[in-house]
Amino acid sequence: MPYSVFVAAALDEFFTHGGAGRGGADFVTSPEVGSLFGALVARALDRWFVELGSPDPFIVVDAGAGRGRLARDVLRVGPASAPAMRYVMVERSAVLAAEQREHLTIEPWEDALGPFLPSPDGDGDPEPVPGIGPIVTSLDDLPALAFDGVIIANELLDNLAFDVIERTAKGWKEIRVGLDGEQFVEVPVAADESLAPAFDAPPGTRLPLQLGIEAWLAACATGLARGFVVVIDYAAPAAVLATRGQSGWLRTYRAHQRGVAPLSAPGTQDVTTDVVTETLHRAARRAGFTVAAEMTQAEWLSSLGIEEMIGSSRREWDARAHIGDLAALAARSRVTEAAALTDPAGLGAHTVTILTKNL
Ligand SMILES: C[S@@+](CC[C@H](N)C(=O)[O-])C[C@H]1O[C@@H](n2cnc3c(N)ncnc32)[C@H](O)[C@@H]1O
Repeated sequence: MPYSVFVAAALDEFFTHGGAGRGGADFVTSPEVGSLFGALVARALDRWFVELGSPDPFIVVDAGAGRGRLARDVLRVGPASAPAMRYVMVERSAVLAAEQREHLTIEPWEDALGPFLPSPDGDGDPEPVPGIGPIVTSLDDLPALAFDGVIIANELLDNLAFDVIERTAKGWKEIRVGLDGEQFVEVPVAADESLAPAFDAPPGTRLPLQLGIEAWLAACATGLARGFVVVIDYAAPAAVLATRGQSGWLRTYRAHQRGVAPLSAPGTQDVTTDVVTETLHRAARRAGFTVAAEMTQAEWLSSLGIEEMIGSSRREWDARAHIGDLAALAARSRVTEAAALTDPAGLGAHTVTILTKNL
């Protein structure tokens, strides 16, 4: 079977059981670090809301929303766009989606855009009542109806199933997966020409082939009439990944630790890959998006004012560290969060890619 079929089945099994793959100091996602990330995303959403001309409803799709941590933190700071906001969490794991209800009041999807009033002239489509947000809803797939707004995907694309190709002395091979007894094993086959990358590489070079990104962006383009798709993930150009070797871009996580070999123990661990920058850009253009901006997470959070936001916490910690009371500890926690989110050797190095459509 193609590698992507194996990975898709393994991830399905893993997330069906509510798998919590990434955790621990090195592997935690940005929303899980604390509430600061959500507060900054709320600022970004307000800016995009204004750029879109303050639409009401303003649809925010959180793709791969997990337990709803980002949603909770965005809404908690009360963004200016909240009265227009419909916050749509898209999560395919039923176990994780169920956990969203622990922190958020979730409305049925049919009600998220309503209630509606008859159009002013009586003949047109009914119009949603303005100013009644935020309304939160949850789906297991991207909404297909046309909307204006933002789709944000934090560490989702690295989690879409991927294929693997390898340069051998006889050209590019596709690494498929077969069974040897009870063990899943690699089965190299000649790669279809369409799978080979545009550049050559020394024999032994392996790369991920992320056709799932194309399908995902095409689905985004079906729903998003006008607005932004924001992809936050670990990403690198193919030539950089080629130099790292497979273990440098294919990672597994289990019980908050690095997992075992990708073909071992399928369904018991998270399987992820770095996003290939060229794949993301090409898929974006094919789906009708413009690559409007790209930067590191540290640069993005800086543009959103992370330093100024934690400035008072830093001063408070400096002033109260010797007292060590709750206020001092809370201040220190914000400062530590900011350092984790902008760490150039960790989350700060994530790539933030901002795609636009009809803007
Ligand atoms: C690594 S987690 C990131 C969760 C969250 N965005 C965060 O930053 O903490 C990836 C999430 O995407 C979900 N997921 C994977 N593929 C998906 C898909 N095609 N549609 C919706 N959710 C998906 C997984 O179940 C998982 O909850």
